[in-house]
Amino acid sequence: MANIKQIGKKQACVIGGSGFIASLLIKQLLQKGYAVNTTVRDLGSINKIAHLLVLKNLGELKIFRADLTVEGDFEAPISGCELVFQFATPMNFGSEDPENDMIKPAISGVLNVLKTCAQTKEVKRVILTSSTDAVTINQLNGKGHVMDESNWTDVEYLTTAKPHGWGYPASKTLAEKAAWKFAEENHIDLITVIPSLTAGPSITADIPFSVVLAASLMKGNDFYIKSLREMQLLSGSISITHVEDICRAHIFVAEKESASGRYIVCAHNTSVPELAKFLSERYPRYEIPTEFHDIPSKAKLVISSEKLIKEGFSFKYGIEEIINHSVEYLRSEGALLN
Ligand SMILES: NC(=O)c1ccc[n+]([C@@H]2O[C@H](COP(=O)([O-])OP(=O)(O)OC[C@H]3O[C@@H](n4cnc5c(N)ncnc54)[C@H](OP(=O)(O)O)[C@@H]3O)[C@@H](O)[C@H]2O)c1
Repeated sequence: MANIKQIGKKQACVIGGSGFIASLLIKQLLQKGYAVNTTVRDLGSINKIAHLLVLKNLGELKIFRADLTVEGDFEAPISGCELVFQFATPMNFGSEDPENDMIKPAISGVLNVLKTCAQTKEVKRVILTSSTDAVTINQLNGKGHVMDESNWTDVEYLTTAKPHGWGYPASKTLAEKAAWKFAEENHIDLITVIPSLTAGPSITADIPFSVVLAASLMKGNDFYIKSLREMQLLSGSISITHVEDICRAHIFVAEKESASGRYIVCAHNTSVPELAKFLSERYPRYEIPTEFHDIPSKAKLVISSEKLIKEGFSFKYGIEEIINHSVEYLRSEGALLN
């Protein structure tokens, strides 16, 4: 695998292009002049690919069918690409068998993609999308902890205590660790991007789960508010970033020759009670709960993006815009009262 020296007219592959973050990344790549190959599981699902077909107006975009769990599926889409962005991951949150529904396919899927990258001479760099769920989950007590790229989620705790929702963070952590091991053994220039909860407008047909979760206090949906509270209890904070910044960060580390290792992308750290107070002051028309007796008023930890910022990246959006853009988007979709 060659080092990245200089990138001219570039070709990139985006694995899992139908998704919330990946489809916006494809848009940004096309706008920057990249030729893009992307993969979806079902070419026949108009719901999953209509927004990608629209993006073809922006540039050269080819859509391939590929499943993470099928060996050989990624040879055609990765062929000729210098950069490979791997987003796809099983997200079966309600599964009663996370081991088989999320953990095993997440690991084998990432390895399947990396094996093809190792065999494809044009591939110069692979950018894997991990999650802050692969960083922050631990049994530390107290407050004021700062989490950076040196921290890893405690998988032993997740798989033994099995707290509610343990399968997804376990799958993300183990898949990222497996990717690092394979990349080191096979001399792949791998970078992992580690997004926090991602919100903002989506170009997908369906409203993304993470946007609904971020706006749950305004929507007043008990199931999602409970999920947000569980997120703080399990992860230690509500840490949130605009989807545009998440995509910009992916391209930034892909193009930056000196970039290496893991990069956390997190614009703002807060807690459920603090977020509720912030929202109720800005959006008094929604009945936002502000009394929370079962969760700490302050986040236990802060997730730091210092490494990314030191590399030269700057966030475009803070919490005001993340929330405002999410609200405008949800209103335009009829998912939030005007
Ligand atoms: N959104 C967030 O808040 C957030 C935060 C941190 C990290 N992340 C990470 O960012 C990435 C994208 O997340 P997202 O929110 O954009 O999710 P999303 O919209 O649900 O997209 C997930 C993608 O994974 C694909 N996929 C699932 N199982 C697959 C399989 N077996 N084979 C091929 N593709 C498969 C889906 O394809 P189909 O269309 O075929 O179903 C879909 O394109 C994920 O790796 C996620 O863990 C997201």
